[in-house]
Amino acid sequence: MRLLGTLQQRARAQLPRAHYDYFAGGAGDEQTLRENAAAWRRVWISPRVMVDVSRVDPSCVLLGRRLALPILLAPMASQRLLHHDGELAAARAAGAAGTVYCLSTRATADLAEVAAAASGPLWFQLYADRNREHSERVLARAAEHGYEAVMLTVDLPVGGRRERERLHGAFPFPDGVALASHLGSRAATSQTPIGGWDCTLTWSDVGWVRAASGLPVVVKGVLSAADAVAAVEAGADAIVVSNHGGRQLDGCVPTAVALRDVAAAVGGRVPVLVDGGISDGADVVRALALGADAVLVGRPYAWGLAADGEDGVRDVLDAFAEDLRLTLALTGCATLADVDADRVRLAAW
Ligand code: LAC
Repeated sequence: MRLLGTLQQRARAQLPRAHYDYFAGGAGDEQTLRENAAAWRRVWISPRVMVDVSRVDPSCVLLGRRLALPILLAPMASQRLLHHDGELAAARAAGAAGTVYCLSTRATADLAEVAAAASGPLWFQLYADRNREHSERVLARAAEHGYEAVMLTVDLPVGGRRERERLHGAFPFPDGVALASHLGSRAATSQTPIGGWDCTLTWSDVGWVRAASGLPVVVKGVLSAADAVAAVEAGADAIVVSNHGGRQLDGCVPTAVALRDVAAAVGGRVPVLVDGGISDGADVVRALALGADAVLVGRPYAWGLAADGEDGVRDVLDAFAEDLRLTLALTGCATLADVDADRVRLAAW
């Protein structure tokens, strides 16, 4: 969508280069970052005609909640680097659009502050801390403040080789901006996790997250059928096919390519979500036809947030919603349930 390009250009012009590159960049040579977007475009939509599309309903039910759109706001770190209202603005915009905002462990606003500002459903993304008790306290607080699910990121045992970040080096946060500890203090000062990333995480820890939070656990970062089965067997309530926006293992499979195998392996036992390079309503329809129940977008709303704050994120979600309705109508689908595997043809990967 043209809007996304325009917002990205504005974000690029406005933000300090190190901040822009932190959000825009991927790992290594950014092959996976580029291919995430390109791979959707190798999936051709095969529309049906002569279908009554006088009413198109793009709503869906996810973890017991009806959402106006199958498009959720992905967790992204440090949103106050994009706009002074950061996570609060993005969460408000998600609520206005009737969808989920997923707050990052690496947020620049405390989870309680975001809960107070938000009007819609919230999920909390967890990076397990090596200090497990710290994570347990954070999860208990998230549950207490009404977060409805925990999104456990499983593809960051260690950070990817991000050349752009290495080029700029550690950038200072502006005055008044810091990573939240999510422990209730107004703002922590540290830009590193309290005990360090926990790279010992294994499938049995899905149960630990559930026990600590009492919430459904959404496992984010699955790219293979084998891991999808392992996640379901470990008790995951939903799975996100994700390669962390191309920021972790460069050269790994684009999510559009991984999605079909994962969805087949899950076989409808739990919802499957996908993120990575989704940039218009057609990409959403492609994802649904390949077996996703919903998608997440990250960078598109980062650019909206940087350009225009809450209004910018609203504009992005409105544009996605409008384009999704249009694409559904032109595909001959009145509801998301009508988007089945027959609605796409795959070009050679
Ligand atoms: C990143 C981590 C913090 O991708 O999620 O930068």
